[in-house]
Amino acid sequence: MTVLKTARVRVPASTANLGPGFDTLGMALSLYAWIELKESGQTAFHLYGDEMNGIPQDKTNLIYKVAQMVFREAGVSVPELDVSMYSDIPLTRGLGSSASAIVGALVAANTLIGSPLPDSKLFDMASAIEKHPDNVGASLFGGIITAMWDGKHAKHLRLEPDANLEVLVVIPDFQLPTSKAREVLPAHVSLNDAVYNVSHASMLVAALVSGRTDLIAEAMQDRLHQPYRAALVPGMTEILQDAHHYGALGVALSGAGPTLLALADRRENRRTELEQYLTETMRKEGITASVLKLRPESEGVKVYTDEKEIPFMDMIKGEVTI
Ligand code: HSE
Repeated sequence: MTVLKTARVRVPASTANLGPGFDTLGMALSLYAWIELKESGQTAFHLYGDEMNGIPQDKTNLIYKVAQMVFREAGVSVPELDVSMYSDIPLTRGLGSSASAIVGALVAANTLIGSPLPDSKLFDMASAIEKHPDNVGASLFGGIITAMWDGKHAKHLRLEPDANLEVLVVIPDFQLPTSKAREVLPAHVSLNDAVYNVSHASMLVAALVSGRTDLIAEAMQDRLHQPYRAALVPGMTEILQDAHHYGALGVALSGAGPTLLALADRRENRRTELEQYLTETMRKEGITASVLKLRPESEGVKVYTDEKEIPFMDMIKGEVTI
């Protein structure tokens, strides 16, 4: 198998759950990480951007380890890699930073060895590494995805996000590891709560497919994870209850949090009012938070085919959106 000189990819951030679709629904967002892999005589790392602080720069690095899984699966040996990464995706905030690293490493490594593994295999591998398919599916395929994973194989359907949908994310100035946000969840739930979530997640998907934005606020409500996680995110209960009065079409905890996500209709032009409400509510709880105005990203991971002569950071500089 021929090993290419360089493989470069851009991966979108993602939000998971969208309220009731726990471990099931995901949406790609217009915030990105870029990864470059090169075969090399000696493994080296070039990590750029504030979000890369503290990331291991040896063979315990997630990108390196995931790339080696791809090579093993494909029966190819590429033991030494030159790894470059730049990311605008905040770490451990519920915006899929680890999923973007996993998906980026899988696709870049696969590209480097001539793409022997199909996307479906990469999705299975990504779901097994991340332990749920929602963030990785969104980063891999883009748009809104609804996913199923049986512990071995993952399947998804992709929905095209409404062109008028915009996304405000309010990112608190503290990290919340997914493991901690999963520890607070009960092992068993009542039949009533299960039915509540099945009905709301189904209605949300139908509302998104049919453009019934009037149903989104109610359909985004959840009883499986948000009520338990609210204690970990000051201001969350109030925002989930009241954000629709300030122009949100719907609001949810983004993935495992602590980021909160509000969907809005760009034609209504209430972005400033919503942004002020979100930051002010957090501030009242003593939490500093920043708001990013994003949009759903239709494109999943993007493989660059013709920019390889441009230095990695020069190529990215032209594309950074925040
Ligand atoms: N579905 C996962 C959770 C997403 O809510 O724990 C984690 O990013």
